[in-house]
Amino acid sequence: MYGGGEDPWHLAERWYEQRKYDITVAALPLPRYRRAFEPACSVGELTRRLATRCDEVLACDRVASAVATTRQRTAGAENVTVRQLTLPDEWPDGSFDLIVLSEVLYYFAARDLDRLLDRARTALEPGGSLVTVHWNHPVPEHLWTGTEIADRVTGLPGLSLLAEHREADFVLQVHGRDLADGSSPPGPAEREGLV
Ligand SMILES: C[S@@+](CC[C@H](N)C(=O)[O-])C[C@H]1O[C@@H](n2cnc3c(N)ncnc32)[C@H](O)[C@@H]1O
Repeated sequence: MYGGGEDPWHLAERWYEQRKYDITVAALPLPRYRRAFEPACSVGELTRRLATRCDEVLACDRVASAVATTRQRTAGAENVTVRQLTLPDEWPDGSFDLIVLSEVLYYFAARDLDRLLDRARTALEPGGSLVTVHWNHPVPEHLWTGTEIADRVTGLPGLSLLAEHREADFVLQVHGRDLADGSSPPGPAEREGLV
């Protein structure tokens, strides 16, 4: 798809995409994150927004031109690193308190999807956030609808569903990595002593 242009999904132009990125960032339960991982960053539109909420963002894509575009578009953000990685075989070292899997999980067949989710779960620090977003209409190259993937991610061991936003077009979920004692991470109100 990138052979036909720098931004094949028009992610930087479409109001639909811009609004969805804003909803994604607004749904983050913590005001600030230490180290985020954003696989499948494409042209870096979500990366730019994440950079305003995170001390460090590591973004990756399997396609070299997408990596180059994200590097260009985040050039002013010194806290962003962009690498060419192909999931799930390649995965960065270290742990993260935020992992964002936006519009990518439907490309993976069951075995690789489970491997990828397992890598994400393992790399997420206790109390960290896993955000997933999926287009919800059938597409020939998508192996799952958004609803199907959301159902698969919900209930994975060690993760608790903290927030969910469902529209006809997409499903967004925020999962929290359970704490060391097995309890769910507190929500934003509890963190500020409101409940
Ligand atoms: C629809 S775009 C999503 C871009 C962005 N995450 C968003 O939410 O708008 C899907 C991206 O996933 C990347 N991708 C697909 N399979 C991948 C894989 N196995 N590893 C890394 N990136 C992959 C593609 O190159 C493409 O840039």
